[in-house]
Amino acid sequence: MTDPAAVPATPTAARGVTGTETVSDETVELRPPETAREEVLVLDFGGQYSQLIARRIRECGVFAELLPHTIDSEHIRERRPAALVLSGGPASVYSDGAPELRPELLELGIPVLGICYGMQAMVRVLGGRVEGAEAGEFGRTPLELVDDGGRLLAGLPKEQQCWMSHRDCVFEPPPGFTALASSPGSPVAACESIERGLYGIQFHPEVVHTPYGTEILDRFLREVAGLTDRWSPASVITEQIERVKAQVGDGGVICGLSGGVDSAVAAALVHRAVGDQLTCVLVDHGLLRKNEAEQVVETFRDRGMKLIHVDATDRFLARLEGATEPEEKRKIIGEEFIRVFEEEAEKLPDVRFLVQGTLYSDVIESGGDGRSGAEVIKSHHNVGGLPEDLDLDLVEPLRMLFKDEVRAVGTELGLPDRIVWRQPFPGPGLGIRIVGGEVTRERLEILRNADVILQEEVRAAGLYRELWQSFCVLPVVRSVGVQGDGRSYAYPIVIRAVTSDDAMTADWARLPYDLLERVSNRIINEVSGVNRVALDVSSKPPATIEWE
Ligand code: XMP
Repeated sequence: MTDPAAVPATPTAARGVTGTETVSDETVELRPPETAREEVLVLDFGGQYSQLIARRIRECGVFAELLPHTIDSEHIRERRPAALVLSGGPASVYSDGAPELRPELLELGIPVLGICYGMQAMVRVLGGRVEGAEAGEFGRTPLELVDDGGRLLAGLPKEQQCWMSHRDCVFEPPPGFTALASSPGSPVAACESIERGLYGIQFHPEVVHTPYGTEILDRFLREVAGLTDRWSPASVITEQIERVKAQVGDGGVICGLSGGVDSAVAAALVHRAVGDQLTCVLVDHGLLRKNEAEQVVETFRDRGMKLIHVDATDRFLARLEGATEPEEKRKIIGEEFIRVFEEEAEKLPDVRFLVQGTLYSDVIESGGDGRSGAEVIKSHHNVGGLPEDLDLDLVEPLRMLFKDEVRAVGTELGLPDRIVWRQPFPGPGLGIRIVGGEVTRERLEILRNADVILQEEVRAAGLYRELWQSFCVLPVVRSVGVQGDGRSYAYPIVIRAVTSDDAMTADWARLPYDLLERVSNRIINEVSGVNRVALDVSSKPPATIEWE
């Protein structure tokens, strides 16, 4: 029977209900949903593209969240998602300790889409035949539809390309399922049971190398799951304003601004929610880039936000005296930052909340399930962030967003491009870009003046947004040069420019020679104390992005 009406209805109509309700013949307690939006949950079976699945679904205009596959079934029921997606994963369904798919997750009365490992696990649980193939399929693979591609693949070309990455494959779909497509190495590359609302694809629709991938996801969301909402990052604004108001009540809120996009957007959003209850604190450690503090102060004061600008340069530089090792510098800067921030927080009456610009990638990276509250990324990335012993509750309005979505929210909130599109900048600032020697006022001045030239030229060349980061480094060595008629003995400046998606890996950017020439000329001519410019052509790994 292939009656589309037999597809389980999405629970959307019943959303917003609290109390007790019967789901799948079991009586469960429902907690109030966080919001009334439609959402899709993606269960992570360990695939390298799992995050990307969630992003693509969001790009289709449906809110999606990634959860570990071990998450309690009860939690999923309570969330009342409109559909489930089971991600790929590196394991074989037959290997010891392979991530398990609980059959009850296929009985929630909502459509389920299994991708790669997710499909194999589904097929196996339901009695189909999954076996190891002699050769797996990796990379671009031709895909051929069976008949008209069934419900999931309807309307797509009979022959198309897809991206595969698997060794096991499905030889027979489970009873009651129809095979929808095949590839040279996968007798069943897609299958469905419309009646049960279960769908599987062996290939990866989330990667760009599957040209019809987004269309397939969109079909699953709109045609199969019947979703009608149009979610966009901007819808987070209204949603979070309500949540922040409810969380904070009439309590005081504090936010440390770093000049970076995350803290800026978080602060602007919280300000929309609670206005003057929010005080922002910019701890200026004297290690910021040229005019950076002024730009932040101006932007936020113009918006009518309360902002305390603490110029703590002298304190930081005094404590940094004699420090030459990277970890020592980081430690000093981190500790001092917390001290200054705490002093400011104590001066404010009734501060009970701390705004943090935690992003979704931070939450996922730390293995968080999106709701436990305390995870933070790699320790050194926390410098300039949360004072851990400050007894404040966290307000994290960006916790559900990816970086590009945060930028969209920032723009929607009216923050200037200069802030919204700012490249990442480390908490310890220029302090870790003066390498192999002490951080002094003179060296900071040189580095700042060189850095601003690089930024100006990179922007003028239209490359600023394409680069993950572009900055200058000052190694504390001096070399001989000849300037005018005289001998110089001065510092080199190293240009570091990288492309990256997430800073975990990075490649050195192939900056045009004429741009490099302009930057080099200008730095040597305009910045006294520099007589050489070098270019860092190392990727990460084995190098890191920052030098210290
Ligand atoms: P590395 O140098 O480890 O840097 O390749 C990866 C990314 O992290 C940034 N970074 C920091 N950010 N505090 C921060 O807030 C830090 O101490 C810190 N160290 C590195 C770096 O700029 C890059 O984007």
